[in-house]
Amino acid sequence: MCGIVACRTTDSAPEYLCEALEALEYRGYDSVGIAVQTVGGGALRLRSVHRVAELVERMADLPPRDLTGAGIGHTRWATHGGVSERNAHPHTDCTGSVHVVHNGIIENCEELRTTLVSAGHLFSSDVDSEVIAHLVEDELVRGVDLAAALGHTIELCEGSGAIVVMDSHSGRIVGASRHAPLVVAASPNGTFLASDISAFGPRVASFQVLRDGDVVELAVPVRWTGTNTDWPVAVAHTWAGTELDLHGYPDHMAKEIDEQPELAGRILDRVGADATNGALWRSLELPDFDRVAIVGCGTSLNAGGIVAAAFRRFGIMPAETVIASEAADAVLGPRTLVIAMSQSGETADILHALDGENFAHCQVLAITNNPHSSLARRANAIVECSAGHEIGVAATKTFVAQVLTGVAVAISALHELGRVNRSNTQSILDDLRRMPDLLAQSLTVAKDIVPPLAAELADSLGVIFLGRGAGVVYAAEGALKLKELTYRWAQHYPAGELKHGPLALVEEGTPVVIVDSGGARIAGNIAEVAARGARLITIGGAGSTIPALGRSLLAPVDNGFQPCGPLECVIPMQVLARELALVLGRDVDKPRNLAKSVTVE
Ligand code: AGP
Repeated sequence: MCGIVACRTTDSAPEYLCEALEALEYRGYDSVGIAVQTVGGGALRLRSVHRVAELVERMADLPPRDLTGAGIGHTRWATHGGVSERNAHPHTDCTGSVHVVHNGIIENCEELRTTLVSAGHLFSSDVDSEVIAHLVEDELVRGVDLAAALGHTIELCEGSGAIVVMDSHSGRIVGASRHAPLVVAASPNGTFLASDISAFGPRVASFQVLRDGDVVELAVPVRWTGTNTDWPVAVAHTWAGTELDLHGYPDHMAKEIDEQPELAGRILDRVGADATNGALWRSLELPDFDRVAIVGCGTSLNAGGIVAAAFRRFGIMPAETVIASEAADAVLGPRTLVIAMSQSGETADILHALDGENFAHCQVLAITNNPHSSLARRANAIVECSAGHEIGVAATKTFVAQVLTGVAVAISALHELGRVNRSNTQSILDDLRRMPDLLAQSLTVAKDIVPPLAAELADSLGVIFLGRGAGVVYAAEGALKLKELTYRWAQHYPAGELKHGPLALVEEGTPVVIVDSGGARIAGNIAEVAARGARLITIGGAGSTIPALGRSLLAPVDNGFQPCGPLECVIPMQVLARELALVLGRDVDKPRNLAKSVTVE
């Protein structure tokens, strides 16, 4: 989703801005732009509906200009107004000296725009963000200082968002945010603002996160104003630059799929033992609870479904998943533990859900891959997934990390609450510890069998995914991956539901992927679709189209239930989605219309 960068540096501003924007590309965007102050007090503004690399090429073709080290940049993910150069950021005021980049939505934009237009302001784009430039312009005309002008402007704009403003006359750059991520940092070579710390690269040793009410100016030292009386604490920044390298892989998704078995091993080494002796839960210092609500979106919600099942199955504890964007109607009883599941920790739907009155009495545990995120700051406790930076927009390794971490938290909490049969905890741990091998085995099988299957599906309009029990959530994740990456429809169903309607979709050759976690009932469902000529792809034990679940089916822990369900079945479905996407010529790391960090509701 939209990414903001800004600098006042002794180095080349365009170079820094483009490098930083490239580091934010993983968030997903459809246009890009920068504005850099010129020595004469004007600005060079360059915008493109292509990639950052294209902007870099265009800049190289420009005649040399005298530029200062002050500049701002933006990757846009369109909300208001189509994808065009005129709608790309930075936006300017009527004088052309106020330049603005913005991430978020201004809910009262139409009202503000009408007032500004009737006061004589001229707009040159369709986007809500442009009102900010004109509001700041009005403040400056009244003689208000730039930092205060931004502080007043953000008050006038309803909704959430982060804003950075550059005045090209002075080269001053100020930033502020409300319920949206914006971080600031300093190095010997300058001061920097960004939507997330990956934009800083190896330049800085620490950073500070802006809170609502802060207004920050890029100066030496960084200048803080606004309505808060203290400054936010500095957080150490450990640069993990090599994670951006492909290490010989054709794309990040391929690399991230491959990382999963080893990642599972690392997670279980870290939290496995603490899960079965209760230490993990105790370390969180959260109160006891009687029920669980897991809030999330997309893949994180699917991971939450597996964790909720572990609470229900092993603790006979009521546990449900709540779609974050629909959470306003959720009824959360007393002593409900809310688990907010989010890879990015910046998903606006989740942050908004937690602000709801219906969540006010609940303790919130965040399970996130980003310990510096807005969610991590909002939660009463956090557990990191520690999946490492995931660059592919489609979640793969973070899903596996969320499932394993979440299940470890569930087992640990149930152990402490005395709700899990303690003699069972060792066999649960043993089962969890088999996951790295099971994932590795599944990966080998998937890489061997899936590519030719994917090629066969190139002309199919869509795919049905089926499962039973824990397999249903995995079928949902398989369908989501296929949609995201191939732009073909994909629908999942509990296999038993098929005969109640969806079976009408099945005809000769309809592709149907089935998570076959064993048993007579799923065998019956497989027979139903086979009888109608479906192109069957079963993911199960020996004899399946993709025999990736063999060992997982051998030793179920609790009456056929593994703590994570058939987790390893997700790998063939990830590989299937990626392979089919490649056959169809899609960009597997940056699927169209999608964003890695979804910061609008
Ligand atoms: C998954 O492949 C998608 N990128 C998407 O569904 C994602 O899981 C969802 O937007 C939630 O994001 P989060 O985990 O950062 O909160």
